[in-house]
Amino acid sequence: MDRNPVSKLLLFGATGDLAQRMLLPSLYGLHADGLLPKDLTITGAARSDYNDDSYRDFAKKALDKFLPPELKDESALGTFLPRLGYQAMDMSQPDQFKPLADKVGDVAGGLAIYLSTAPSLFEAAISGLEAVGLAGPTVRIGLEKPLGYDLASSCEINDAVAKVFPEERIFRIDHYLGKETVQNILALRFGNTFFEPIWNARGIDNVQITIAETVGLEERAGYYDGAGALRDMIANHTLQLLTLVAMEPPARYDKTAIRDEKAKVLHSLREITPEDVGRNVVSGQYGAGASGGEIVKSYTDELGKPSDTETFVAIKAYVDNWRWQGVPFYLRTGKRLAVRRSEIAIQFKPVPHSMFAGRGGMLQPNVLVIRLQPEEYIQLLVMAKQPGLDRDGVKLREVPLNLSLDQEFGGQRRRIAYERLLLDLIEGDQTLFVRRDEVEGQWRWIDAIRAGWAANGTRPKSYASGSWGPSAAIALTERDGVTWQDD
Ligand code: BG6
Repeated sequence: MDRNPVSKLLLFGATGDLAQRMLLPSLYGLHADGLLPKDLTITGAARSDYNDDSYRDFAKKALDKFLPPELKDESALGTFLPRLGYQAMDMSQPDQFKPLADKVGDVAGGLAIYLSTAPSLFEAAISGLEAVGLAGPTVRIGLEKPLGYDLASSCEINDAVAKVFPEERIFRIDHYLGKETVQNILALRFGNTFFEPIWNARGIDNVQITIAETVGLEERAGYYDGAGALRDMIANHTLQLLTLVAMEPPARYDKTAIRDEKAKVLHSLREITPEDVGRNVVSGQYGAGASGGEIVKSYTDELGKPSDTETFVAIKAYVDNWRWQGVPFYLRTGKRLAVRRSEIAIQFKPVPHSMFAGRGGMLQPNVLVIRLQPEEYIQLLVMAKQPGLDRDGVKLREVPLNLSLDQEFGGQRRRIAYERLLLDLIEGDQTLFVRRDEVEGQWRWIDAIRAGWAANGTRPKSYASGSWGPSAAIALTERDGVTWQDD
C-alpha cells in the first residue's frame, strides 16, 4: 500500500484515561522504534489547563506509570516529549477552535486528528474543525467509539462527519482490529490450504466467541450505565471478530476487498425478532462475589443506584448465507466473570463414523482455539492415541497442537493494539478501520435485540461476580448439546 504519512497529529481527549494508558504509550513506542515520521508533531487538546511544558510533564508521568519497564528509555523519552504540544479548549465552544488552529499551524504537510470524545460532542467538534480550516483535503480523522448508541444516532454522527470528510479520510477505530492475534485469523484462514475446505456448515458445528473480563465499572459509570454490554462490547469488538471468522476470502489484502467481505457478513446476520429474543439472548448483571482474586461489590452497589443495565450478554446468532446455514455462532461477553479471556473457539463436526466405538475409544470433535488474550496462541485440539498396548481397548485422548505466538515469535515485542492503529492513521492505511456500512450493519442488528428486550420487558438476570454469568447462558448452548469452551 502507498504510505502517505502526515506531519502533524492532533489528539482530542489528550488528558483522558485512554490517552494516558494507551495513546501516549503507543506513540512513545512507535517513536522509540523510529516508526513515526521524523518531523511529526503531536498537539494534545482537552479542557484541563495545561501549556506545552506542563502537558509534557503530564505525559511523562503517564508514561512512567503505564509503560512496561523494559520499554522505558531515558534518551527515547528525551526526544519524544519535545514532539508534544498542548492547547486547552472546550470543544462545545465554537470560538475555541480558532486558537487551536493557530496552535496547529499549517496543515499542508498533512494532519491526522484523533477524536476520542462523548458522542454528544462529535457534531460540535466536526463543525468547529471545518470552520477553522482543519478539515481540508490534507486532513484525516480517526473516530474512537462509541459512535452513537443506536442506528439512528450513529447515522446522525456519520452524516455530520460525511458532510465534512469523505469516507476515504475517516478512520473509525475498533481497537480489537489492532490486536495481533485478530489479524492472525486472516493469516490462518487465507494463508493455509487445509482449513478453507471445511470452513463452512459442512465442516463446522458451531463457533463460540467469548470476551470475558474480570474488571467491573472502572470509574466509567457515566458512560457504561447508559451503554451496557450489548452496545459496549457486542456492537463492535465481538461482531468484528465474527466477521473475520465468517467472511468469504477477499481477493486482496486491501481496505476495499476486506471491508466489502466483512460488511456482507454483517448484512447476512439473521435478525433477532422480539419473539426470538427470549430464547436466543441472555442478559445478566453482576452481583457481589469474588473476581480477579478480590471480594467485589455488586454492579448496583458500585454504581450507587438501582439499574437495569446489562453487564453480561450471551447470544445465539446465525449468519444467513450459503456457507454458514444452520451453524450457530454463540457470542458471550461480560464484566466480573471468572477469568479475563478473549477467545474464539471453532468446533468442527464429529467424524462421520468412529471405527473406535467398539474398542472403548471415545472421540471428541476437533476444536480450533484462537486465544487473543491474556495469552496469544492458536491451538488445534486433535485426537491422539494414548501410549500403551491397548489390551483393554484403544485409549484416545484430546491433545493440543500448539502454535504459541509468544514462544514462536519470542524475540519480537508484542505491540499494543493502538500502536498499529495510530501508525495506520498517521500513514493513511484504512484496512483495519471500520467502514460506515459496517457500523450501520452492526447497529441494525443490535437495535433489533434492544427492541426485543423493550417489547418483552426483559431485565438482566443476576449472576455472582467471579462466575461465568447467569445459568441461562449455559442453558443457551446446552439446549443444543453444545458446551461453552471454558478451560
Ligand atoms: C472497550 C470497552 O472498548 O474495550 C471496555 O469500552 C472494555 O468496557 C475494553 O473493558 C476491553 O478491551 P481489551 O482490549 O482490554 O479487551
